[in-house]
Amino acid sequence: MASVLVVLVLAAASLVKKAKASPTGPPGPDGRQCVQLEVPVTVNTKAIHWLQKKVDSTVDAVDWVDDMTTWTSPNTTSRILGQITVNETFKISGQLCVPAKGSRSDILQLATHGVGFDKRYWDVEIKSSQYSYVDAALAEGYSIFTYDRIGTGSSSKPDAYDVVSTGVQVEVLRQLTTLARSGKLVSSSKKVGGASNLSNYKPAKIVQVGHSLGSVIIIGLLSDDGASSDGAILTGFLYNSQIGSASVGPWGFEFAKENDPKKFGDRRSGYIVQATKSNTQLVFLKKGTFEPALLDYAWQIRQPGSVGEFISLATVLGHPAPAFKGPVQFFIGEKDYGFCGGDCNNTYDVTALKKLYPASSALSVHLQPGTGHGLTLSTNATEGYKVIFDFLHESKL
Ligand SMILES: *[C@@H]1O[C@H](CO)[C@@H](O)[C@H](O)[C@H]1NC(C)=O
Ligand SMILES: *[C@@H]1O[C@H](CO)[C@@H](O)[C@H](O)[C@H]1NC(C)=O
Ligand SMILES: *[C@@H]1O[C@H](CO)[C@@H](O)[C@H](O)[C@H]1NC(C)=O
Ligand SMILES: *[C@@H]1O[C@H](CO)[C@@H](O)[C@H](O)[C@H]1NC(C)=O
Ligand SMILES: *[C@@H]1O[C@H](CO)[C@@H](O)[C@H](O)[C@H]1NC(C)=O
Repeated sequence: MASVLVVLVLAAASLVKKAKASPTGPPGPDGRQCVQLEVPVTVNTKAIHWLQKKVDSTVDAVDWVDDMTTWTSPNTTSRILGQITVNETFKISGQLCVPAKGSRSDILQLATHGVGFDKRYWDVEIKSSQYSYVDAALAEGYSIFTYDRIGTGSSSKPDAYDVVSTGVQVEVLRQLTTLARSGKLVSSSKKVGGASNLSNYKPAKIVQVGHSLGSVIIIGLLSDDGASSDGAILTGFLYNSQIGSASVGPWGFEFAKENDPKKFGDRRSGYIVQATKSNTQLVFLKKGTFEPALLDYAWQIRQPGSVGEFISLATVLGHPAPAFKGPVQFFIGEKDYGFCGGDCNNTYDVTALKKLYPASSALSVHLQPGTGHGLTLSTNATEGYKVIFDFLHESKL
């Protein structure tokens, strides 16, 4: 019965969503003007070739977790076998939304989601006025671009071992940022739906917004190319004393194709997904700050990750970003299980953070009370978004 209700709620929600972005002409009834794009992104870069086990079944996936977490296994450094060249054009599925009446529409928020989701993480369809970050950003007057990272959603799903890795995804974000800044994001893409008159949209400023691995990717971009971005909101991530306890264990990984052949039939070797709804709760939500329907939703929209992105997660961390001059905010659930070992209070050092961003105009850390890792899926999400927007406004963004 409960699952029937969920299906109904989801069906109703998707109808509401469809009404928002009418194909004939923007803006939708709520002033939302969005265009859905297929952006070609060409990457020509070096990637690390890793020593790790192949995953072609759920038995393999569990064995991969075993190998990654066994204390006598090779550490990350000694798993580096060499480098490969990645010279590929990926198809990136993205959505650009520009507010109909936007006082800040020339500021583009470029949002990069984390593992376990695709771009829907930013645009929750259940009670969207309480949860959708896209809606909140538009209401605040910002434009926003969300996209499926490679390996997820409707974007390309390349080799999961070395290609779908942190370093390559930094390159993808760099290309998307350059394209957006040039004003050619829409004109150089294939339009697959939505508003028709955003073709000339050219932002004056770009604020990177990330969640979890998405924040890690932004951290990589800022240290490589700090001038690329005017601000950074790093959610679901914090350098802190408990970060070493982050583990692939709680996900209970299974081979994606075996976990759900219907949903993940196109996931090849090396794509893994959390096994159950309970794993989704442990990784993303904290009892007391989520509604059951949102846990159901998080489970329903789950997306596999690649073994390569887990093994390469830390490769871009810890490097300073001397050329980044904008404001940077670390925004994390107080009870984040993965990155703070379940409690972020008293785990971090703002002085140490400032050393990584020596030219940054403002740096802040916000712990969202009582909340787990999945910030957009947690109660009080909207009050959290206000904290983000207020921080940006203080820096005239
Ligand atoms: C990783 O393992 C290698 C080989 O055992 C060792 O030399 C190195 O110090 C280790 N690195 C770290 C960061 O623990
Ligand atoms: C990258 O790939 C393109 C198209 O396949 C090819 O034309 C080009 O020469 C390649 N570049 C390098 C540096 O390998
Ligand atoms: C798109 O068209 C709508 C209605 O015709 C208009 O209100 C809006 O300002 C236009 N947006 C852009 C970016 O030109
Ligand atoms: C965080 O820790 C401080 C000092 O240990 C304590 O006073 C404060 O109440 C804690 N905050 C929360 C939200 O638990
Ligand atoms: C909701 O979030 C805001 C912003 O972080 C915070 O000030 C407030 O205390 C939160 N409310 C609850 C009930 O946690």
